Amino acid sequence: MTDAVQAPGAESRFTPRVFSGIQPSGGLTLGNYLGALKRFVEMQDEGTETVYCLVDLHAITVWQDPDKLRHQTREAAAAFIAAGIDPTRSILFNQSQVSAHAELAWIFNCITRLGWMNRMTQFKDKTAGKNAENSSLGLYAYPSLMAADILLYHATHVPVGEDQKQHVELTRDIAAKFNHDYKVDFFPITEPVIEGAATRVMSLRDGTKKMSKSDPSDMSRINLTDDADTIAQKLRKARTDAEPLPSEAAGLKDRPEARNLVNIFSALSGQSVDAVLQEFGGQGFGAFKPALAELAVAKLAPISTEMTRLMADPAEIDRILGQGADRADAIAQPILAKTLDIVGMIRSR
Ligand code: TYM
Repeated sequence: MTDAVQAPGAESRFTPRVFSGIQPSGGLTLGNYLGALKRFVEMQDEGTETVYCLVDLHAITVWQDPDKLRHQTREAAAAFIAAGIDPTRSILFNQSQVSAHAELAWIFNCITRLGWMNRMTQFKDKTAGKNAENSSLGLYAYPSLMAADILLYHATHVPVGEDQKQHVELTRDIAAKFNHDYKVDFFPITEPVIEGAATRVMSLRDGTKKMSKSDPSDMSRINLTDDADTIAQKLRKARTDAEPLPSEAAGLKDRPEARNLVNIFSALSGQSVDAVLQEFGGQGFGAFKPALAELAVAKLAPISTEMTRLMADPAEIDRILGQGADRADAIAQPILAKTLDIVGMIRSR
């Protein structure tokens, strides 16, 4: 995006640390699970230090009903734990409990160039066909807050779905410009981690659109709160074409709906796309969809059941988030303090 690059080898000075976030602006979807959450668990289990955040400050860039926001934040925390995040190993917290996020975001608002922000495709997509003038300033500035989320922990790796790649690239530009402008090597140049068969899960109603919690049609997505019958029904009704499945991945090229369902199967089963097609190539959706529904129910229904159990004790979820925030704050405060010092703020108390 810019010519800002870090000197070769400079990254190695930073201890590996993973950071990622999810907006609690609605229920989590299969897209969030396969594109992000499932990877979050794997990275935790690989033993790297992992910091995961429910980004409630990002959520309010679009108006949220306050009670629903609290509910969705707890529900997202329950989804993380139900999916395998262990809050004693990973740090799990909600963003607004660590005020350093907003403070560092302000510093970054003064680093980020308007030209960079004007290139952010997600802002353009979110305001397309609407009155962009009526969007919040927060929605426009939100990638700068995302950079603050990441760099406040000196995170070296950020697992995300494909749609967040440009924001992580912006984070790298902000870190490089800060380091350059203040002649320091303070912020790492973070790597996006975009891996797996389902880095872009598409709508079940339209294979050219991303599966999203904000799509008006509930049939377009699988929610992590859906029960077994709903999951199976949505997959059975998913839009497809009339052809049988091909035997090789190349045959999915101009078939977005078929490709999406095969990618979902691959990501849920842990098999490669080629292996899935070896099994189902030549067969129609009459055979493939029930197999996919059975697999999805086996993998997802236990998560939804566990979420329901966890949501019965909201005070326990709040306690976990509070403890996570304390641990996050302990990492964030010294990094924020050093940043303020670097930019020339008096720190006399
Ligand atoms: P959000 O809340 O839209 O999505 C959370 C994560 O889920 C991924 N994702 C998908 N992956 C595959 N297919 C899909 N259909 C799909 N939909 C969503 C997203 O790529 C993301 O990884 N700005 C971020 C949240 C954020 C953040 C951060 C992420 C704030 N600060 C710092 C990483 C690091 C967002 O709105 O994600």
